[in-house]
Amino acid sequence: MTEFKKIKNICCIGAGYVGGPTMAVIAKKCPDILINVVDINENRINAWNSADLAELPIFEPGLDEVIKKCRNRNLFFTTEVKKSIESADMVFLSVNTPIKSKGIGAGFASDLKWVEASARQIAKFAKGHTIVVEKSTLPVRTASTIKEILINSCLDKDNTFDKKFSVLSNPEFLAEGTAIDDLENPDRVLIGGIDKFAIESLKNIYGRWVDREKIITMNLWSSELSKLIANAFLAQRISSMNAVAALCESTGANINEVEKAIGADSRIGNKFLKAGPGFGGSCFKKDILNIVYLSNFYGLKEVADYWNQVVLINNWTRHRISKIIVNKLFGTVSGKKLSILGFSFKANTNDTRESSAIQICNNLLEEGAELVIYDPKVSYRKIEEDLIQKEKIPINQIVSEGSWSKANTIEEAAENSDAIIVLTEWDMFKNLDWEKLSSLMRKPSWLFDTRNITDHKKASENGINIWLLGSSN
Ligand code: UDX
Ligand code: ADP
Repeated sequence: MTEFKKIKNICCIGAGYVGGPTMAVIAKKCPDILINVVDINENRINAWNSADLAELPIFEPGLDEVIKKCRNRNLFFTTEVKKSIESADMVFLSVNTPIKSKGIGAGFASDLKWVEASARQIAKFAKGHTIVVEKSTLPVRTASTIKEILINSCLDKDNTFDKKFSVLSNPEFLAEGTAIDDLENPDRVLIGGIDKFAIESLKNIYGRWVDREKIITMNLWSSELSKLIANAFLAQRISSMNAVAALCESTGANINEVEKAIGADSRIGNKFLKAGPGFGGSCFKKDILNIVYLSNFYGLKEVADYWNQVVLINNWTRHRISKIIVNKLFGTVSGKKLSILGFSFKANTNDTRESSAIQICNNLLEEGAELVIYDPKVSYRKIEEDLIQKEKIPINQIVSEGSWSKANTIEEAAENSDAIIVLTEWDMFKNLDWEKLSSLMRKPSWLFDTRNITDHKKASENGINIWLLGSSN
């Protein structure tokens, strides 16, 4: 049997959507391991420590229960970076890696400044042998950068090594909204690395609740690339279906029927085939653009163009939907009240990163609409941050300026509105009281369902005009 280190103390750098839930589940499954989740953002740490579990910085079904059970038992949220790294046998890197906004690779490559800063902190404070685990999704070969920083920064005065590091890649496959279940019952756990001792030590943690055969080990670069490709494949399926939805609308086919027919082929499978307003979330676009950057870097232009098309179709989908809304409403939404149902990038999360709602709302605002936005979990402040991007729109493209407000209830959003536009597939939108909503709306009223989840027959029976994504009604 391969030797391994029994991990007693973990530090996770980054208390975000990945670090928080991942460490909560490890803490739950391994009560004997002490875990410190550190973050430079003091507000975020305070929110993780708040007595009221509704105040946790991220909303994730089931997370509050795990936090209640483990917090201050073997799971701690703190800003004490130095102390937490010093005492750790294993450090997880879960910091943000957004797309670079300027410089080389701007718009495509990941900005690794937070990863680099964390690696330098680990190099400075770690003691003895530390296993460093890449958790954030990173461009291929980031592990080499981390290794280099770690090795070069830990030479002592006599140029000898006073500490030792092993770097592993352990990409996260959790999806927001189902994070706890994904972590507790993963399809697979991927561990990339060369140091067998370190790999076995990490395997031994996951092995406490994941079947051994589901824990796949491979070289570092394969692990890093597999994560990017898994996300690219998923995004590609969605862009394919969004392209087919447009084709359905033109030909009289129905996207739900096509989805059922192709999903029944066991080689294709029935998951991730839902057409919608375009994929959002922090990973898909970023990961594909990383692949595009990487492919161009290695002179593989055709490969780069192939993947880039997935992102182009996604952007096109958002604009296509905005245009349809404007066209159906007699070619103008200026001064019209439109209720937007759902602002998060998918249901069961308060995350709005890359949400299609942002682009669609901005398009409608440019056209002068008065938007009233309802989302059960997204805060006013978040919507405000997302929609205040007008300075990015060239002045000559602004037709007229609309306005937006946030509603506390669906009824409040619907009152006097010309249209209800469903952008996120929250369960509560599936069974709306169309009789009531219709009586509140201005006539002629419209329902635009970009997720195909509403009881549109009832809406139609109550005199509302219907537009459903991917059908020709
Ligand atoms: C994704 C990956 O699923 C996960 O494995 C990885 O670790 C992180 O990125 P996430 O972004 O949280 O997870 O959500 P996901 O469920 O993948 O949805 C992404 C976007 O695709 C959402 O906007 C969602 O609405 C959209 N989507 C998803 C569709 O439009 N149709 C589908 O069939 C599925
Ligand atoms: P993800 O979805 O990948 O988890 P988030 O943005 O939600 O991304 O979380 C990343 C977290 O990492 C943020 O809360 C950020 O403050 C934190 N972070 C970034 N750099 C550092 C650092 N050097 N030390 C500690 N925390 C950091």
